[in-house]
Amino acid sequence: RWIVDKEDQLLHKSSEIKEAALWIKKGEVIAFPTETVYGLGANALDEKAIQKIFQAKGRPSDNPLIVHIAKEEQLKDLVTDVPLVAKKLINAFWPGPLTIILKRTNSIAESVTAGLDTVGIRMPSHSIALSLIEAAGVPIAAPSANQSGKPSPTTANHVIHDLDGKIAGVVDGGVTGVGVESTVVDCSVDRVMLYRPGGVTKEEIEDVIGAIEVDPSLHAETEAPRSPGMKYTHYAPTGQLYIVSDCRKIKDYVQEARIKGHRVGVLTTEERVAEYDADIVVACGKRDDLSTVAQKLYDSLRAFDGQKAEIIYTEAFPKEGIGIAVMNRLEKAADGVI
Ligand code: TXA
Ligand code: MG
Repeated sequence: RWIVDKEDQLLHKSSEIKEAALWIKKGEVIAFPTETVYGLGANALDEKAIQKIFQAKGRPSDNPLIVHIAKEEQLKDLVTDVPLVAKKLINAFWPGPLTIILKRTNSIAESVTAGLDTVGIRMPSHSIALSLIEAAGVPIAAPSANQSGKPSPTTANHVIHDLDGKIAGVVDGGVTGVGVESTVVDCSVDRVMLYRPGGVTKEEIEDVIGAIEVDPSLHAETEAPRSPGMKYTHYAPTGQLYIVSDCRKIKDYVQEARIKGHRVGVLTTEERVAEYDADIVVACGKRDDLSTVAQKLYDSLRAFDGQKAEIIYTEAFPKEGIGIAVMNRLEKAADGVI
């Protein structure tokens, strides 16, 4: 379902991938496509190279990075132990959008894990990402390739918009497939815990290993998240975003805000795009297939910036399947305002 295997594209890109791998070996940072979003990669074993990722993104240093591998055997240098539940998840979902947190070894550069004794690892299911990791010959640490706080990039142009002049380059693999980031689960604790909803759903995980815990902060604002990255405002367009749980009210809100002289945006889906009379109306996929909403989510949020929206109202989506990840990102982008 997630495999982005564009063999012809791979052939087409082979010299670019080789060049990108050389930059990684030299300790520089390169953006590359994965099946979820574009990553900003550097050699996970090279402390100086990792520092460049944090600098380029303006990322807080207490937010650890995910390490990307191309082969399962790369795990043994990176983690001390792979518990049975983790093995089951690996068999079921790698390569794919699942990041597994395990106890780390000391071979990984300090700042990758932001001082934690665990590391998040994933094997992406994108042919360009996999061949880049293989060509570089090292595990590649990579956060999403956006400026910190902004929506994650799903095209090479998004990366260039945010990071031009700050990184060695970007391998252009077109639009990414899943559109939201990987699911993050902690397998270093006694009871497996979900930290970030993403491309693999909780139900899919539970089909493989049975019931799992969910970080309480995903439901209650008052709890401190277990995953450092989840505490920051994220994915946010420049305009103020409001989630409207009863979408029939959006039309009135739009009118009120326009009367006050604001440039107003609405985020909806193809089904209802004709209903709204706002300055910017963006159709983000189809409501009857939430995976299309996930795919277009970040590009849609970025479109409001391009059109200088000051206030944005978004419809809410059902919190089921991939809709859980979509609503999690919207809630963060709206800073919890519903
Ligand atoms: O799909 C993805 O996961 C993309 C692509 C590029 O692979 N990457 C990505 O990375 O979204 P980033 O850095 O934007 O998000 C990583 C998340 C953060 O919330 C971070 O706090 C969490 O994973 N994380 C990483 N290592 C962790 C650890 N050892 N313990 C807890 N959380 C961790
Ligand atoms: Mg990110």
